[in-house]
Amino acid sequence: MDRTAQLTARVTGRGIVYDPLSTAPSAASLHVRAARVLAANWTGTSTVPSRHLYPHQWSWDSAFIAIGLRHLSPLRAQTELETLLAAQWGDGRVPHIVFSPSVPLDAYFPSPDFWRSSTAGRAAGAPRTVQTSGIVQPPVHALAAWLVHRADPGLSWARGFLARVYPRLAAWHRYLLRRRDLGGGGLVSVVHPWEQGMDNSPCWDGPLARVTPAPAHSFRRADLDHGAPEDRPTDLDYGRYVRLAADYRDGAYADGDGEFAVEDPSFNALLIASEHALARIAAELGTPGTARHARAERLTAALVERLWDDASGMFLCRDLRGGMIHERSVSGLVPLLVPGLPREVSGALLDTLRGPHFAARTGLVPSYDLRGAAFEPNRYWRGPAWFNTAWLVERGLRAHGEKAAADALRTAFLHAAGDSGFAEYVDPDTGEACGAPGFGWTAALTLDLLHDMDGAMETGEEGGDRG
Ligand code: SER
Repeated sequence: MDRTAQLTARVTGRGIVYDPLSTAPSAASLHVRAARVLAANWTGTSTVPSRHLYPHQWSWDSAFIAIGLRHLSPLRAQTELETLLAAQWGDGRVPHIVFSPSVPLDAYFPSPDFWRSSTAGRAAGAPRTVQTSGIVQPPVHALAAWLVHRADPGLSWARGFLARVYPRLAAWHRYLLRRRDLGGGGLVSVVHPWEQGMDNSPCWDGPLARVTPAPAHSFRRADLDHGAPEDRPTDLDYGRYVRLAADYRDGAYADGDGEFAVEDPSFNALLIASEHALARIAAELGTPGTARHARAERLTAALVERLWDDASGMFLCRDLRGGMIHERSVSGLVPLLVPGLPREVSGALLDTLRGPHFAARTGLVPSYDLRGAAFEPNRYWRGPAWFNTAWLVERGLRAHGEKAAADALRTAFLHAAGDSGFAEYVDPDTGEACGAPGFGWTAALTLDLLHDMDGAMETGEEGGDRG
């Protein structure tokens, strides 16, 4: 039934409240509009996040996009993931960007001639025929592969989908667990803010302050040709991003002693969710997944031990050089989707989500503390609400039996996505569209939540807590 047809927004003293007795927008029209975005962004083998701002294939975008695409075309969803995994490096890393050879070099910065993957990445096993970046992004892929398989197991078996992606996904996780435990405590570290995905989060202000920016004249940003400067990271941020990426490249993409090394809750939570999904994939292929579930449980224990902060009631990032980073970011709420959290941890996360730091007027989840000194409602990951993190939190709420809160977040998501033209991100209080319009994962995850409204939620892992 078309339940969103009965919903609309009212601005009240408490913020924007979606009223169950109104007329806009209908689920059917939202579905058609989201499908159109994904059709417009489809290249034939994968989906660009945005035609203008991000004209190549991005790693975690593709995972989220596949999760939505499975409801439109399980074949396209499988192809999306396989295209990405075909660009995997010999050491197991899945690059954060796979470049399209048909896009002009100056359409996006940093372009293939900056990363020089096939030469600078040779020792790490970069592919010779396709150009990629040399850093990674959050490991959402095994979770996506499992959900895509479950959407059409017949097609998946007929194409040998799981059997082909499983070894690549296993190598990807092996790379992270063996090469990226830079802190020695069992968690994975990111070596660049672009790896964690929330590029200019205030969490990185401390660790980035140690990095000498690359000179402004040494590169030209292409993002400002398409994005409003006030919605994007600053030039100073970019100087530091470029310096870190160039140093990593000049060290042949070897992992070890870079200037930036941070253990991040969202990155590690997604690895845990994907380890559980990989265990299910293994079992489906006839191999026991017990060892993987056990590994996911060890990672969960390390996550709580190293990143939980009782005083803030959420997970924090750990800078391997500077210690705990006392900034509240949505990253610290994403672990709600991890099964088997201690009950006091999940309870505190739920309280924090509802509390003054994260309860935004749209009902969405801001990327950063509404009361934080660095909060900016429009600037990328310094406050705006994003749709992938809302999807992850919605999933976490559902896994913990918080049905009313999950339904409310889903409703807020669907309205904000539709009203904003499937924006990349929105002002968390007004819902104003920011960043790129017609954004891939916003459209894809809209489809997933619309599908889920009929009670067909597919879990990649069991929810629930430990007592
Ligand atoms: N998010 C980055 C950008 O803005 C890179 O992945 O280009």
